[in-house]
Amino acid sequence: MPTPPRAAVEFSPVRSADTAGRIVAEPTARPETIAADALVVFMAEGAVGAGSAAALDRVTGGLLGRLAAAGELGGKRYECVSLLAAPGLAAGQLLVVGLGKREEVDAGVLYKAAATAARQLAGRPRAQVVFVADGSWTTRQVEQAVAGAAVGMVGQDLYRADRRRTPFGATVWTAASPEAVRAGATIADGVNLARRLVNTAPDDLYPQSFADEAAAVAGRTGMEIEIWDEEQLLRERCQAILAVGRGSSRPPRLVILRYRGPGRQDGPPEVALVGKGVTFDSGGLSLKPSDSMLTMKCDMAGGAAVLAAAATIAALRLPVHLVAAIGLVENMTGPAAYKLGDVITARSGTTIEVHNTDAEGRIVLADVLDVVRGLQPARIVDAATLTGACMVALGHDVAGLFTNDQPWCDRIAAAARAVGEPVWQLPMYADYDEQIKSEVADIKNVGDGRWGGSITAAKFLERFVGGIPWTHIDIAGPAFAEKPKPWTDGGGTGAMVRPFVELIRGG
Ligand code: BES
Ligand code: MN
Ligand code: ZN
Repeated sequence: MPTPPRAAVEFSPVRSADTAGRIVAEPTARPETIAADALVVFMAEGAVGAGSAAALDRVTGGLLGRLAAAGELGGKRYECVSLLAAPGLAAGQLLVVGLGKREEVDAGVLYKAAATAARQLAGRPRAQVVFVADGSWTTRQVEQAVAGAAVGMVGQDLYRADRRRTPFGATVWTAASPEAVRAGATIADGVNLARRLVNTAPDDLYPQSFADEAAAVAGRTGMEIEIWDEEQLLRERCQAILAVGRGSSRPPRLVILRYRGPGRQDGPPEVALVGKGVTFDSGGLSLKPSDSMLTMKCDMAGGAAVLAAAATIAALRLPVHLVAAIGLVENMTGPAAYKLGDVITARSGTTIEVHNTDAEGRIVLADVLDVVRGLQPARIVDAATLTGACMVALGHDVAGLFTNDQPWCDRIAAAARAVGEPVWQLPMYADYDEQIKSEVADIKNVGDGRWGGSITAAKFLERFVGGIPWTHIDIAGPAFAEKPKPWTDGGGTGAMVRPFVELIRGG
């Protein structure tokens, strides 16, 4: 008999010291014996007799079964039923969270269900909360449930004295392996890092302060980091990044992270992650209306996802050689701001006529993609809050995919779906390339009119990847939630952190 694994205290290097409480695995402990503020158990629709719900029904003397028979407990997806002082439990409260139809339960559903329960319980301070995993779950499912719980208890209230969410002092997972709990906690720290960066006020998070955050997390997770300041950007001919940044008193930065996993010392990177890091998008001289500008601190969400995913991948010691590059700019209207009609010579040599200073993300990414192309990665994937048009096409929840390489795009879509983040591919229709041709320069930074705007933006980016297999993910919709959902407070969502980690793990 192997000795039972020791309870592990989880605190990943992705996490800055102040965030989401300890996460502990108690693989063999009996949940009913653990003193806690609350005990969370998962239940599929009508399935009070199955899995850990059945076990809890037994120890509570058939309480769950009676509630189910009375129609009070159905297991509907994300429905939470809370019971105080249930018999047979050391915990003060039992929370049953519904999973919906049993055959539809997957890692993504478990992530959201655990997050829903945690979010509800985190409405008040709790010293300890126990989550009961189910023996039938796969390792991936345990990981995503653990991640969901640790994300759900963190809110967007960074600046509120009276916090809406208080992370539990400790989260205990029973019937889960310490390895899966550790991985899930690390993934959650990645998602919460991306969320915190997005939720930070734009006057606090600007190109240099984002780069400082990147340097701190790189140091903790063992990544190499380069930060190009404006002089270095000039030496490197990154005129496109510099042009967009000229209207701001906060100069632009380019962050390049490199992680070489076990057994990956030489050769070019296997994957390059690229992120749009516009720390605030006023629109520039093509100024946004006030209502559209309010949430534009979210315009660095692609960069945050890329930083957080790279940090998580490094903390998990995944066997990959990865680079991540984030173009950091504040798009403002200062006296030196770039203008409509300006022609920018991008690092690649391509000349860009500026028709709209609010189409700044693609201009920034032109240089970031060119820098990355020079590193000759086997594959590139970028994440960017690039176009409102993508939200018109796909709504708030679904990210748009665009590619020059179908197998690469398919892998990314599969990774996203495996963790429950919806994505949908849009066509890189060849004729739309005509729309970005300019009379004055090689290309212009908008299409003809607004129709198909997310595709013309992707066609623009394609010009800078030099034929390397590449997929662009437009996360303008999913990066930021204007309203809360049952499983998450509003604000930054951490979209694409889990898909990127899953992508590198290879499903
Ligand atoms: N950052 C915006 C896109 C965006 C909109 C992200 C809403 C998240 C929510 C981007 O820089 C932008 O302004 N795009 C313009 C492009 C247009 C001027 C061609 C847009 O979508 O209107
Ligand atoms: Mn813009
Ligand atoms: Zn933007």
